[in-house]
Amino acid sequence: MTQVDVLLGLQWGDEGKGKIVDVLSPQYDLIARFQGGPNAGHTLEFDGKKFVLNTIPSGIFNEKTMNLIGNGVVIDPIILKRELDNLKKAGHDPVAKGKLVIARKAHLILPTHQLLDAANEQKMGKDKIGSTLKGIGPTYMDKTGRNGLRVGDTTLPDFKDRYNKLVEKHKEILSHYEFEYDLAEKEAAFFEAIEFIKTIPHVDSEHYVNGFLKEGKKVLAEGAQGTLLDIDFGSYPFVTSSNTTTAGACTGLGIAPNKIGHVYGIFKAYCTRVGGGPFPTELDDEVGENLRQVGHEFGATTGRARRCGWIDLPALKYAIMLNGVTELIMMKADVLDGFDTIYACTHYEHNGKTIDYMPYDIISVKPTPVLKAIDGWKTDVTKVNKVADIPAKLADYIAFLEKELQVPVKFLSVGPDRVQTLELN
Ligand code: GDP
Ligand code: IMO
Ligand code: MG
Repeated sequence: MTQVDVLLGLQWGDEGKGKIVDVLSPQYDLIARFQGGPNAGHTLEFDGKKFVLNTIPSGIFNEKTMNLIGNGVVIDPIILKRELDNLKKAGHDPVAKGKLVIARKAHLILPTHQLLDAANEQKMGKDKIGSTLKGIGPTYMDKTGRNGLRVGDTTLPDFKDRYNKLVEKHKEILSHYEFEYDLAEKEAAFFEAIEFIKTIPHVDSEHYVNGFLKEGKKVLAEGAQGTLLDIDFGSYPFVTSSNTTTAGACTGLGIAPNKIGHVYGIFKAYCTRVGGGPFPTELDDEVGENLRQVGHEFGATTGRARRCGWIDLPALKYAIMLNGVTELIMMKADVLDGFDTIYACTHYEHNGKTIDYMPYDIISVKPTPVLKAIDGWKTDVTKVNKVADIPAKLADYIAFLEKELQVPVKFLSVGPDRVQTLELN
C-alpha cells in the first residue's frame, strides 16, 4: 500500500504551489485538492503559456494524472465552469478526457455566500480581513453550522427547495446590513453551472483516494493558502476558514493520519502576505516595493498588491512543526538576484523578551524582527539548470536555512517556468 504525499504552503499563501505540483505531477497517479476554494490562485507556466487555476488541481496538464476536488474544498460552480471553459478554449478539456472528478461531499458556494462575505467585510471597514470575497467564510460557516449544500445534493429532486430555504436564511441575515444587491443574474448563472457540474463524475473522495492507495498508486495532496492562514493556527482572525495544514489533507480527502507520506513544505526565499493581519518582517519601504516589482507580487486571484518582507524563520519553524514537513522547497530565489545584502528574521523582540516562536499576542503587540544580514549572490540565476552552477552565496543561504530549520531543501525554483526548477541533494 502506498501513502499520500502532501504539498502545502508554509507562509501566507502564494508560495508557488501550483508550479511545483505541476512539476511533480508526472510522478503521481492522482493530484487531490483538499481544502479552500476559489480564493486560491495557482499559477503554472510552461511552453510560453500561463494558466491560473482556482479550484482545479494543478495536475491537470499532465496527460496521465487524475485530478480530484476533495470533500474539504468549497466549490463555486460558476467559477469552476468558467475555469473549465477557459481551459477548453486553450485546448485542454479534462472533463472530456475523464481526468477530473469531484467529491460528492464538497460544499457549494452559493451567490448569497459571496454577498454575505462582501456585506460583512464592508461593515468591518478598516478592520476587515481582506477576504478575497469569494464567499469562503460564509460557506464554511454553513458547513460547520450544518446548513450547507453539497455537490451530491445537486442530483436530488428537492435540490431547488433546499437551495431556496438556505437563500431565504441568507436574505434574512443580509437584511441586517446596509448592503444593496441584485441576485437574479448570479442565480441564473449558478443554476446553469450546476447543470454543467453534474456532467463531471461525482465520487466519494474517501473511497476514491484509499482505492488508489490500495492499488499501490501514488497520490499527491495539493494545499491551498498557507499554514499562517490556517483557521486554528494562523494569525486569527486574519486567516481563511479551513485547515490549511497536513491535518486538513486527512479530513479534506478522507485519509487516516498514518497514510501520510512525504510532506513537502514550500516557501519563498522571502515572504509575502495579501490582505490584512500581522506580518512581523513586512518592509513598508522601497526595499519592499523592490521585492514586489521584481517578484511581480500581485495576487493571481484578485490582482491586489502583495505585502512583501524578509524571510521569517520563527514562523517557518512553527509551520514545519505543525505540518511534519519532511522536505522543503524554496521558491523565487531569482527575485533576490540583485540584492547586495538580504536578511533573515531569526527571532522576535516581544514585550521586552527575545523569543524564537510566534507569540499568541501578535496583533495588539507587534513583534520586532531580529534580522541577520546575509551576503547576496549578485548573479542572474534564472538560467541555472545544474546544481553545480548554483552561485556559492546562494548555496550558503540554502545551507543556513537547512541548519536553522533542520529540514533539507529538496527543490529550488529560479523562475516561474516549469523548467526553472532544480532538484537538490
Ligand atoms: P500559489 O498560490 O502557491 O500556487 O502561488 P501563486 O501562483 O499565487 O504565486 C506564485 C507566483 O510566482 C506566480 O506568479 C508564479 O508564476 C511565480 N513563480 C513561481 N515560482 C517562481 C520562481 O521561482 N521565480 C519567479 N520569479 N516567479 C515564480
Ligand atoms: P493560494 O492558494 C494568499 C487570504 C486573503 C485574506 C484571507 C482570508 O493562492 O495561496 P478568504 O477569501 O479565504 O476569506 O480570505 O486569506 N487568502 C490568500 N492569500 N493566497 C491564497 O491562496 C489565499 N486565499 C486566501 O487575502 O487575507
Ligand atoms: Mg496563489
